[in-house]
Amino acid sequence: MKNNEIIIEHLNNILCAELFAVNNYLISSKLLKSRGIYKLSNQQRANSMDEMKHADAMMDRIIFLGGNPKCAFRDYSGQTDINIDKTTSIKTIIENDISSEMSAVEYISNAINEIENLGDKITSELLIGILKDEDNHLQWLQEQLACINNIGLDLYIVYSQNND
Ligand SMILES: [Fe+2]
Ligand SMILES: [Fe+2]
Repeated sequence: MKNNEIIIEHLNNILCAELFAVNNYLISSKLLKSRGIYKLSNQQRANSMDEMKHADAMMDRIIFLGGNPKCAFRDYSGQTDINIDKTTSIKTIIENDISSEMSAVEYISNAINEIENLGDKITSELLIGILKDEDNHLQWLQEQLACINNIGLDLYIVYSQNND
């Protein structure tokens, strides 16, 4: 496989997972909003917009490198369905998102190393920017989980109902 083909394959894998994340965060944002969990809902919506920007950047770079964006809809584990609904607990939503962000950090970190070794500094720098965003998403989610574990879910819900 030529260097560009290897890079394009990585970028397409990331693109698929980004598109999955756009939808996952948007759906969970709306489910949380319907329960009045505004703070968490607003952040999930902002995360969805971040993931859309990542997908946008992946497509531009894939096309620039001579490839075609493959807009399959799956996460890094190959999952194609978003398994959350009105009955999914807040803790489960957060834990699922932590797991997804950890997969993203792992995949993108490995892709950066490989792409750096192939000599494409621009793509690796682009991915470093995306990796920083995923790291921020992960950190924020882990803080929410720590907060729930510290103060309990009931108090966390009261705290998260403030829409400021
Ligand atoms: Fe992302
Ligand atoms: Fe993310």
